[in-house]
Amino acid sequence: MCGIVGYAGVNEAAPVLLKGLEKLEYRGYDSAGIAVLNGREIEFAKAAGKLQVLRDLTEEGATVHGRIGIGHTRWATHGEPSDVNAHPHVSNSGRFAVVHNGIIENYQQLKAMLLGKGFTFLSQTDTEVIAQLVEYYYGKCGDMLETMCRIVGKLEGSYALGILCADQPDRFYAVRKDSPLVLGLGEGANLVASDVSPMLAYTQRVCYLDDQEIVVLQADNVAVYDINGERIEKEVTVIDWDVSAAEKGGYEHFMFKEIMEQPQSLQKTISPRLQDGEIVLDDFHITRERLEDFRKIYIVACGSSYHVGAVGKYVLEQTTRIPVEVDIASEFRYRNPIIDEHTLMIVISQSGETADTIAAMREGKRQGSHVLAIVNVLGSTIAREADDVLYTWAGPEIAVATTKAYSTQLAVIYLLALKFAELLGTMAAEERAAHYQALQQLPQQMESLLAEKEEIQFMASQLYNKHSIFFIGRNLDYAVALEGSLKLKEISYIHSEAYAGGELKHGTISLIEQGTLVVTLATHDALVDKIKSNAEEVKARGAYLLAVAVRGDERMAEVADAVFYVPRTLPLLQPSLTVLPLQLFSYYVASQKGCSIDQPKNLAKSVTVE
Ligand code: G6P
Repeated sequence: MCGIVGYAGVNEAAPVLLKGLEKLEYRGYDSAGIAVLNGREIEFAKAAGKLQVLRDLTEEGATVHGRIGIGHTRWATHGEPSDVNAHPHVSNSGRFAVVHNGIIENYQQLKAMLLGKGFTFLSQTDTEVIAQLVEYYYGKCGDMLETMCRIVGKLEGSYALGILCADQPDRFYAVRKDSPLVLGLGEGANLVASDVSPMLAYTQRVCYLDDQEIVVLQADNVAVYDINGERIEKEVTVIDWDVSAAEKGGYEHFMFKEIMEQPQSLQKTISPRLQDGEIVLDDFHITRERLEDFRKIYIVACGSSYHVGAVGKYVLEQTTRIPVEVDIASEFRYRNPIIDEHTLMIVISQSGETADTIAAMREGKRQGSHVLAIVNVLGSTIAREADDVLYTWAGPEIAVATTKAYSTQLAVIYLLALKFAELLGTMAAEERAAHYQALQQLPQQMESLLAEKEEIQFMASQLYNKHSIFFIGRNLDYAVALEGSLKLKEISYIHSEAYAGGELKHGTISLIEQGTLVVTLATHDALVDKIKSNAEEVKARGAYLLAVAVRGDERMAEVADAVFYVPRTLPLLQPSLTVLPLQLFSYYVASQKGCSIDQPKNLAKSVTVE
């Protein structure tokens, strides 16, 4: 989704902005632009297409001069991706330029008001309204901070804004509401950006801005104000991700690097929390009494995080015997869910900025539930607003298609489930101990599985030209099938569906033809015979069967055309290993097809609009 970067420093701004936008490319976008203050006026350049178009247009930033500037990658919402709709948007007089991430919900009313005052509009965007609105209020009061306070009072919806004013050539302004914006404090360079990745080259000292906080940035000074124009102090956080964590490090794609990093990410997420045979969770305040009081658990998330929730439902119900419902965040709050103080809501989000998940979380809190968040990005909105936060220490995840965030979210679900079981006494001590031991072995088992990646690569080379693929599984394998199918369609653009093995014959089996690929997950020991029967059903109708089974279990070999074996762990933990060949398969299929793996078409990494 849209990315913003703003820079006030001692160097030329345009190259810094282009570099910063490059770091935000992973979020997904379709046009890009920059605007810079040259001391007297605003110079800007923008273009539809990839950043390279803007790079060429500005000769790598050389044609746009000045040390204060703002940049933007746009993911179209209002108006097609085009040069004119790209940001920055400049006011009628050319004195103001604006970049925006979010959606202004009352832009039509504001536009009508501004048209009535004689303003004209070039684009179809909601953002252009902001540029004219700034000009309008500045014209009335002549003070930029007051103008910022006024526009915050007028704009409805979500926004992160970077704003230049030609009358103030040594500074720029920024503000956010419900869209992410981070402030970076460097030496001779202060920045804002949608996330920390563009600023790591300049500083690791950041401040997370809260809603409606207004920032004035100069090269050597930063001031933050509230909506009344009163100065406020912000807490500084030091990020421990270094620049290299967000670089490809010799790999062809971030996705592949992130797949291969999973053993380390898992280790980082699990090890500090397993101490002397006990689970110790940081920022976790649920006591045994409180836990006993919960009558229901909702897991709410989007995309792959929702798929972690699908595994979580099986795992948490098994370990706690508390009923668990897993919900898609965009559906949750509109279905009048039954929530009260006896409800625990677990929200899962890699970015911590997914608009629907934030909205669902706020609804849950409003109705009195306790919110526990599983989040990757430190200081993100969800992390800050939840009652408890458990971080997945996956480090920066750059590829749009998530892999290591999924795995570490799953690991946190396991830790949580075992902690709950310990507090509630729903699992015998020996059984818990066996799970702790198995959890600690997972990174090494992942390592050995990933070492066999060429086998998957070969399978992908034989099967990449399929047009439609089905994933089937039962119980936990079904939950993993959902993720395997999503992964494949996200990056390879092959149509695919995931089905519970027993459900296939209630309609979907009619789609099976000679040669249709059916990936059968058969790693859930207790149900292998059942899924094998489902596999037989599709095989009898001509399907090509690729199975994933646990090493040592030969049952699927009797029916499948090819079997990939994963190491065995305890049944509840098996999804951590079963998902890996599916990630690799998607990656290699997409690679065979020559797809844009890290930035698939139409997708965004961080979905900050509803
Ligand atoms: C986007 C990403 C997915 C991700 C989903 C939820 O659609 O492309 O990979 O699973 O958002 O994001 P979150 O940051 O909340 O986990």
